Amino acid sequence: MVEQEMAESPDSIAQRKKTSLIASLVSSLQTDEKTEARKKEEDKEGLSRKELFDEMLMFMVAGYETTSTALVWSIYHLSKYPRIQQKIKTELMQYSCDQYLSLDRLDSFVYLDCFINEVLHYSPTIEGTSRTVIVDDYLPNSGTPLYKDNQVLIPTTALARDAHHWEIDPELFYPERFLNEDKNYHPYAFLPFGSGHRQCLGQDLARLELKVILARMLQQVTFGDGGPEVNAVGYIQKLTTMPKHIGVIIEFH
Ligand code: HEM
Repeated sequence: MVEQEMAESPDSIAQRKKTSLIASLVSSLQTDEKTEARKKEEDKEGLSRKELFDEMLMFMVAGYETTSTALVWSIYHLSKYPRIQQKIKTELMQYSCDQYLSLDRLDSFVYLDCFINEVLHYSPTIEGTSRTVIVDDYLPNSGTPLYKDNQVLIPTTALARDAHHWEIDPELFYPERFLNEDKNYHPYAFLPFGSGHRQCLGQDLARLELKVILARMLQQVTFGDGGPEVNAVGYIQKLTTMPKHIGVIIEFH
């Protein structure tokens, strides 16, 4: 795909880079890698070919299993909470009786957004993230020292389940919290996509994918609980944290 893109004219690449990730990366390729390689890191311009392939690999690794795991957790929760599933279906019916899902229609599914937020809040899709300390510093309240090059682990799942930060018990799966009591949650208590300069680059895409797929599925099917033995959840820790035992009944309409 990269070779194909490189064969395009500079004008065509410049035009398409607004909508094509590969065109955008290719337009940033260094023209003279050897000269750039001799420069200091901060003076280098553009991407080398290796960096371009690393970027593409990162997109595939970071973008695939994360979203599919969040989707599996969503199906699990739908199967366990028929009340919530019914409420999403009612919302879908209210605003969209036909099959077509325009962006405006999707925007109107406010309860579905709350459900997706609650899946990301409740389920440990990504356990946490980390940062490297770049200068000696300390934590403001405790005075705990932080030394340059220390790795700091930020346990986002633990923060999301810390009752200090939530009005409604965070151990409850309750999407309505995002409409009411917990809508002004502490910004660092809920970080499914991290925060700051290195926050998830694909979060809008991930939210859109989840919303479209869930809306489409719930227009067609109802998920039921397959029973305590097969739908017993548990965890498998891979790149993401996935539910281990999922067994749902799928009823087609
Ligand atoms: C539900 C789905 C997803 C979740 C839960 C998720 C979560 C995260 C988290 C927690 C980080 C680390 C952020 C930080 O340290 O502050 C991250 C980084 C990243 N994500 Fe996602 N992600 C998802 C989907 C995606 C998708 C669909 C893409 C791209 C197509 C993507 C691309 C990236 C990239 C490139 C980074 C690294 C950003 C950087 O280091 O500058 N992610 N993601």
